[in-house]
Amino acid sequence: MRFSTSAVVAVLPLLASAQEDPLAQYKAQFQNFLGQMGSYIPNPGAHDPVAALEAKMGSMRMHTLTLENWKDTLYEPVAPAATVPEEWWVLVTGRNKTCFEWSADINVGHCGKIEQAFNETAAKFALTPSSPHVGYLNCDDQPILCNSWSTATGYIWSFNLLPSPAPVDIYKKRLNLTTTTSADLVALNSAKSKEGWTLLDSWFHPFNGKATELGLSVPYGYAIWAFNRVPNWLFMLIVSFASRSMMQASYRTSRSRYHN
Ligand SMILES: *[C@@H]1O[C@H](CO)[C@@H](O)[C@H](O)[C@H]1NC(C)=O
Ligand SMILES: *[C@@H]1O[C@H](CO)[C@@H](O)[C@H](O)[C@H]1NC(C)=O
Ligand SMILES: *[C@@H]1O[C@H](CO)[C@@H](O)[C@H](O)[C@H]1NC(C)=O
Repeated sequence: MRFSTSAVVAVLPLLASAQEDPLAQYKAQFQNFLGQMGSYIPNPGAHDPVAALEAKMGSMRMHTLTLENWKDTLYEPVAPAATVPEEWWVLVTGRNKTCFEWSADINVGHCGKIEQAFNETAAKFALTPSSPHVGYLNCDDQPILCNSWSTATGYIWSFNLLPSPAPVDIYKKRLNLTTTTSADLVALNSAKSKEGWTLLDSWFHPFNGKATELGLSVPYGYAIWAFNRVPNWLFMLIVSFASRSMMQASYRTSRSRYHN
């Protein structure tokens, strides 16, 4: 069972309206609570620091993003007085768990082709000053981060960062998993325009999204991750149990009203 964002998105406006003053105190308490929860829940992500360091120091200058390091990593090259945005290209990729497409017939894994193209492009960018910085986000390894951004695999996200707290423009571009080559990506960058890219305007925008501002995107990431781990039968059981007890409660309420 895959949970869509729509159910949670439906609830978010209610929480957002909590930003208007009377509830500010409760909102702060709630965020505090979420923060504390967060420190108890283990991060199910996987990260190989040695491989990540090799990729960073190697010819690709590739930075591996994790739930813990992504923000610092992206801001690292941004000078405090910069007035021109620093651009990052982050490949959102995955292995068998998060990157699959039925038509794909390549045997390096379904995102293998775009990864290879991206990695080759990274090595070329490293030799060309003023190219975008490059980052690698694998959703098999970092499910919480991918969920909290509400992103699917097979995309490049272009981050354009000025010193914090300036808003961050993010453009995303879907890559064709079967045909994308490094030459395509180099051409995409040379075009120097974001035509064919989509400006990200989402509740889950990693910097400026409503869910992010409310501190809800990471808990949301965990929730989706957990829901996707609940087996279908258990989920049906919980739903039927919950609806039964709700019906009983309303029955009791109406009866007591009748007797009073
Ligand atoms: C991933 O999928 C490919 C092709 O479907 C398969 O050959 C490979 O064994 C799978 N790898 C894992 C780790 O499941
Ligand atoms: C691309 O580079 C990353 C390291 O940054 C590595 O984990 C990944 O396996 C590489 N992919 C391919 C297809 O070479
Ligand atoms: C990828 O490109 C091929 C060849 O141009 C095309 O047949 C296919 O539909 C494209 N896939 C997607 C998801 O756009």
